[in-house]
Amino acid sequence: MTEEIKKIQVIIDDKEIDVPEGVTVLQACEIAEQEIPVFCYHSKLSIAGNCRMCLVQVEGKRNPIASCAMQASHGMKISTKSEMVTKARKGNLEFLLINHPLDCPVCDQGGECDLQDITMAYGPSSSRFKDNKRAVKNKNFGPLIKTEMTRCIHCTRCVRFATEVAGAEEVGAFGRGEDMEISSYLEQAVTSELSGNMIDLCPVGALTSKPYAFKARSWELTPTNSIDVMDAVGSNIRVDSKNNEVMRILPIANEAVNEEWLSDKARFSYDGLLTQRLDRPYIRQDGKLKAVEWHEAFIFAAKEIKKHNADEVAALSGDLADVESQFCLKELMDKIGSLHRDCRQDGAFLPMDERCDYLFNTTIESIEQADHCLIVGSNVRLEAPIINARIRKSTLHHGLKVAYVGPSADLTYKIESLGDKLSILNKILSGSHAYAKTLKEAKNPMIIIGQGALASPDGEGIYKTCRAIADKYGFVHDDWNGFNILHTAAGRVGGLDIGFAPGEKGKDTRKILQAAERNEIKVIYLLGADEIDEDALKNTFVIYQGSHGDKAAHIASVIFPAAAYTEKEALYVNTEGRIQQTRRAVFPPGEAKEDWKIIRALSEILHKKLPYDTRKDILSKLAKTYPAYKDFSRIEKGQWHEIKAIEVRRGMMTLPINNYYQTNPIARASVTMAKCTVGKNDSKSEGRQVRKDTKATKYRTEK
Ligand code: SF4
Ligand code: SF4
Ligand code: FES
Repeated sequence: MTEEIKKIQVIIDDKEIDVPEGVTVLQACEIAEQEIPVFCYHSKLSIAGNCRMCLVQVEGKRNPIASCAMQASHGMKISTKSEMVTKARKGNLEFLLINHPLDCPVCDQGGECDLQDITMAYGPSSSRFKDNKRAVKNKNFGPLIKTEMTRCIHCTRCVRFATEVAGAEEVGAFGRGEDMEISSYLEQAVTSELSGNMIDLCPVGALTSKPYAFKARSWELTPTNSIDVMDAVGSNIRVDSKNNEVMRILPIANEAVNEEWLSDKARFSYDGLLTQRLDRPYIRQDGKLKAVEWHEAFIFAAKEIKKHNADEVAALSGDLADVESQFCLKELMDKIGSLHRDCRQDGAFLPMDERCDYLFNTTIESIEQADHCLIVGSNVRLEAPIINARIRKSTLHHGLKVAYVGPSADLTYKIESLGDKLSILNKILSGSHAYAKTLKEAKNPMIIIGQGALASPDGEGIYKTCRAIADKYGFVHDDWNGFNILHTAAGRVGGLDIGFAPGEKGKDTRKILQAAERNEIKVIYLLGADEIDEDALKNTFVIYQGSHGDKAAHIASVIFPAAAYTEKEALYVNTEGRIQQTRRAVFPPGEAKEDWKIIRALSEILHKKLPYDTRKDILSKLAKTYPAYKDFSRIEKGQWHEIKAIEVRRGMMTLPINNYYQTNPIARASVTMAKCTVGKNDSKSEGRQVRKDTKATKYRTEK
């Protein structure tokens, strides 16, 4: 039952208005649609009340009051436009500007600066102060954040974000009064995976984006609303471009997904869209790759496919593959007659009978309603920083208790560690573990199972035991489903949705690679599949379709250059099963094309023509075939059903990501991500590039 919210009546600028009890004066003014200028207030952070920009007049008070820090009470008479308020705002800005540099023409915040805007609207036209301006030494915040601390107005938004939201207490305020400075502790670089959000929060140009520094002015950019693909969260983003180049990526607020935050990889890896790009087709002749025309590349690939039995052809789709291209490739494989295909490059055990079998069913937003959360084999902080921030928020504000089974990980909130052996799950299921008592008492419990656990040798046992735990302890009841799979790849749920998985007698990733090593698979189609053991494909004809000359492109026999996510309209499904669409912000380089178009063109050369001439044709076929694709505004989960439990026998695993900054071809091509990899803590190492294996559980064939 929802509690009825009590209302109180306030009078704002002579208008009576009902507002919920407990709101601040500032929030009451917002409800009354009266604009109040603010610097330190932010709806997602605690109240600091230190900038004094939000002053209003309240009847009966001698001085203006900081509206963000005072609760509204019944009958309160508030004035937002009186002479006292106007004078107070002017005076406040005059004080702030005493020490503010005259940097606007060279400041990256110019054009989107709160201080500029508020001064224009409410500030004085001149200053009475002639004192020398104070200067503050810049701080090293690492390769992502450029500092110009003389511009800092001490609002402490950055400090509160780091402490409250990111859970990385790395930034603080030192000194008092005029000597106050914002700095990272011990002048170390900031290491949080969410650090870029401090740039958005900073109301002035004290913290700006280092990779974007002096690249463009905000009014020169063309914004395109899109979806991030660096993980499976599906954060809503705005891609700002200029001259067919992505200049920066910013978050778009979506309370159900990313609130208003964005992970650093999603925000800063865009420079990888410019390097190592495949911009024309290649074929391998005499051991060397040779640039050719599209037609020649298609004929080269088609000849090889036709040469072999259908049983000798296989396909794997990668982490960034969109729904349309996986659907077209699946249909092409069907027409060829091959059943060997998989979208699970890591070999994770994921049943696909119903959508709820492989989704994050609780949904990201509803994490805030859970009271207990059991995390199994997932470093949520590295696999989905945005979801980790939501869990942290729930632990701080909604009393969520978290228990953890798996290799040790710093998740930024308090956890009850149950050990690293996943066989503990057997004990929880049987009720012999102390944690079983906690679960029995939980009202809305949830479990999060990571890809590391599911891709481990006993992924099936772990999955089925977790499923049985969910059934036994009431994780699924009424309109609550606490069974969650945390995906790490943006393309994975879409692949599972359309059944990009082996047919009845088909081979999965493990078997395809084993068969390729034995030379039983002669041709393999890699749709951006780079996270596999390339050594297994030494004797195989590899058709590689992708945007970057990454790992798999090096062993390719033919290369089809494809558009990246900022260069096409395509569907991606996030870990919750939310279907979202990317938009084209820039054109693909050279001769690169949208993925589905490449597969459609090849199908014609193979005389297995797919019946889709436009993307709309594919979308309407998807809507007809899969109920979830009829209406993108709701998440279709399917019917919860029983799955028979089997014991966890080999319960050891490794976490899937050991280098957060380089998990896919775009991130690996990014110089910014390489700088972060070298070590955000090592300011001297900035600019050096390194390459490391990104997947701790890199799939290897078992001989
Ligand atoms: Fe100008 Fe704003 Fe930059 Fe200050 S922070 S120099 S007011 S643009
Ligand atoms: Fe505020 Fe920016 Fe200064 Fe941090 S650096 S206190 S966000 S003005
Ligand atoms: Fe109220 Fe800063 S916004 S004191």
